[in-house]
Amino acid sequence: ARALNTESFGQRIVILDSTVSTQQDAMRLAEEGAPEGTVVLAEEQTAGRGRLGRKWFSPRGKGVWMSIVLRPTQPLGFTPQLTLLTGVAVCRAIRRLTGVEAGIKWPNDLLIHGRKVSGILLESATEDQRVRYCIAGIGIDVNLNTDDYPEELTQLGTSLKIEAEREIDRTELIAAVLEEMEQLCRLYAEQGFQPIAMLWEALSVTINRSVRAHTGQGIAVEGTAVGLDPSGALVVETDQGERIQVISGDIQL
Ligand code: BTN
Repeated sequence: ARALNTESFGQRIVILDSTVSTQQDAMRLAEEGAPEGTVVLAEEQTAGRGRLGRKWFSPRGKGVWMSIVLRPTQPLGFTPQLTLLTGVAVCRAIRRLTGVEAGIKWPNDLLIHGRKVSGILLESATEDQRVRYCIAGIGIDVNLNTDDYPEELTQLGTSLKIEAEREIDRTELIAAVLEEMEQLCRLYAEQGFQPIAMLWEALSVTINRSVRAHTGQGIAVEGTAVGLDPSGALVVETDQGERIQVISGDIQL
């Protein structure tokens, strides 16, 4: 084991054996006043949640299933930036610890060789256009073997163990994620979104690729992903040269 090199992130950690979803547990703690950087970890989730109402497969002992309490001071419209920041943090931690070159698919799926190794779910509690707190949910497939995946996921998912061809120490990975989160949150507080956007673009597998985007409003957009705008929206340029911001939803590469 190694020391956790942070001031606030992970200084309080609740470790659960089995839970429905660490998102719910972290939300309850945040409601009770838990400070920024409070973490909930579980060995297994019985109903892990993914983005867009999907389920998140969270088998016992094989992954990092973690939720972090964030207390942003920015107004409501800035939460997409926190989603991107969290993706950068997890991507950097994975690269640092395993040497495997994970890339980010907008907004924050982490892919290795085209398969998803990690997903991020950022949920916010708001009141009068104000953010009361956010919960950054991070799922990382760490030590799953190929035959641990249910059939519908075998083509889509991969694990760090499969890609790095060795067991990965979950405790070290968690420490690395928390260190990256704290550093990036500090950078963000001091210098704003611009440096985060640059890091995100450098790790992204989406930029300069042709994408089909479905916005949250169900509108289909086709074109080339050209970058992030200052709010954290993905900018897609159509064949007609029109630039469209994609704020939510999913893309196909
Ligand atoms: C996605 O890619 O759709 C996001 C997946 C987020 C999964 C994590 S695992 C820890 C936390 N608890 C949950 O129920 N979901 C998030």
